[in-house]
Order: sequence, then structure tokens, then C-alpha cells
Amino acid sequence: MASNTSKVILVTGVSVGIGAAIATRLLHAGHTVFGTSRKEGAQPPAADVRMLVMDVRSGASVAQAVAEMLNSAGRIDVLINNAGFGIAASVEDTLPDDMLRQMDTNFLGPLRVCQAVLPAMRAQGGGRIIQVSSLAARIGIPFQGAYSASKSALEGMSEALSLEMKPFGVDVVMIQPGDTKSNFTASREWTESAKASVAYAARARHAIEVMEKAEQAGPPADKVARVVERAVNAAKPKLRYGSASAMELLALFLQGVLPDRMFEGVINSNYALSKRK
Ligand SMILES: NC(=O)c1ccc[n+]([C@@H]2O[C@H](COP(=O)([O-])OP(=O)(O)OC[C@H]3O[C@@H](n4cnc5c(N)ncnc54)[C@H](OP(=O)(O)O)[C@@H]3O)[C@@H](O)[C@H]2O)c1
Repeated sequence: MASNTSKVILVTGVSVGIGAAIATRLLHAGHTVFGTSRKEGAQPPAADVRMLVMDVRSGASVAQAVAEMLNSAGRIDVLINNAGFGIAASVEDTLPDDMLRQMDTNFLGPLRVCQAVLPAMRAQGGGRIIQVSSLAARIGIPFQGAYSASKSALEGMSEALSLEMKPFGVDVVMIQPGDTKSNFTASREWTESAKASVAYAARARHAIEVMEKAEQAGPPADKVARVVERAVNAAKPKLRYGSASAMELLALFLQGVLPDRMFEGVINSNYALSKRK
């Protein structure tokens, strides 16, 4: 795919946060950008972003939005699977239905959108799929077990997809943002069991408070959008791009060099979990 031409791009979840920043940045770079929200009549993040209604939890909704886009633009060069949210709970308080809810949006959602656009990408002889993953795919985050599982699943599937798509000229890329200031913090959902939990209440509350402070003190969403833009423009994109702070990079370095149990201690102390019950 040529790096400097105007592309037709679909970004899921552009109403707020990282998706809004990605759509705005790519639009201003001269691309034709379609963006999605679950809400009918949602405002575009920038005037010329073409809004589609899409709930990534529904195959019919995904199929309809992608068909509308293809009817209008005639092609799709880049899909950016960005829509997502996080569940807060200990693993014990994440009931199977909670896990399914998390997977439905963060894992099956991108799968549904990939499956809707891949026939067009194969027919046109190429394309690019960019999955907004998370550092939480690389480090299991306490009291975010469902979220870490959903992003790890997304990455495993994407590695396989990348190999499968090579003969068709479709590149698959994963972006791993660290803590980023967005609506993600406000949209985080506690499970019903976690709300009523006695065994984990103090540690869960504390760990999530640490995360929420880090998110809200984190870089603006446009930092991730700049990384996505690099992945859109690269003639030969990497499989993974990071978007991490110095502290997060240090954690990844330590993960690579320390024995696993010692690295667990680093994570434990970051969330000040060891002293709490
Ligand atoms: N913020 C962080 O610290 C951080 C770190 C690493 C990775 N990420 C990842 O970055 C991505 C964007 O998150 P964000 O931080 O920008 O969060 P955000 O500000 O809460 O935005 C989430 C977006 O996803 C959309 N969305 C949620 N559920 C959806 C569904 N079922 N179908 C379609 N759209 C849906 C929302 O759109 P509507 O409500 O309008 O439908 C919204 O535009 C997510 O995949 C998240 O996991 C975030």
C-alpha cells in the first residue's frame, strides 16, 4: 500500500477518546474517514468524519455499517478496530457472563468487523487492519483480568490473521497503548459480584484507584493517534507498535529481564497490593 496517498479508513468507536483523536488526525492528514458510534445521531469528532451507527456486539449492525461504507466509498484501505471498554473485578468476581460481555466488545467485536471487511480487502488486492490492543495484553493487570484476557485474545488472533493474510496483501498491526486520558476511566464497569465483594473490596478499590489516577494523568489520546498514523503510513508496518510512558517502558524491560515471580513483586508494589487484604 503506498504511504502518501489518500486512503479510505474505517475507525470504530470515534465518539470520544482515542478513536476521536485517531479519526480527527487521519482526516486532517487528507484521508477519507468513516467513524462509528453505537448512538444514532452521534456527533462526528471532526466535521468531515462520516458517521455510521455500529454496535460491535451485533453482527447485523457491523454488516450494515460496513455495507453502507462500501456503497459510499467503493473500497476500504484501512480498518482501525478501536472500540472497547474495561471491566473492573477480581477474577473470582468476574462471572462467566461478565467475561462474555467483555469478550463480546473487545475480542468478538474486532473479529466481526474484520470478517465484514476482509472480503473487500481481498477482492481489491490489499488493505491494512490495525487493532487497538493494550499493554494489558502483555502484563496481566490485577482486578482487570477480563480486560487483560480480552486484549491477549485479540493479540493471539491477530498474530494468526497476520500470517493468513500475507498472500492477500493485507497487513495486520497491533497498537499497545499504555495509560491514556480518555473516557475509558468513566466508562469502566464494576461487575455486580465485585460491587458486593467483601474478600477483595479494599484491594480492588485501591488497585483501580491507582489505575484511574494513572489514566487521568496520562498523555492525551492524540499520542496514540500519532502512533496509529505511523502504522497507517508505513510502507512495511511492524506487527506491533507501543505507545508507553517511561515508567511503562521500564516495566516492560523488567518483565524481560527479571524472573517471573520477581516481576510479580514489581506489579504488586505498583498497585500497593501486598500490604492489603
Ligand atoms: N484509555 C486507556 O488508558 C487505554 C489504554 C490501552 C488501550 N486502550 C484501548 O483504546 C481503545 C479506545 O478506548 P478509549 O480509551 O478511547 O475509551 P473511551 O474514551 O471510553 O472510548 C471508547 C469508544 O468505544 C466505543 N464503544 C464502546 N463499546 C462499543 C460497542 N459495543 N460497539 C461500538 N463502539 C463501542 C465508544 O463509542 P459509543 O459509546 O459512542 O458507542 C467510544 O467511542 C479501547 O479498545 C481500549 O481498550 C485504552
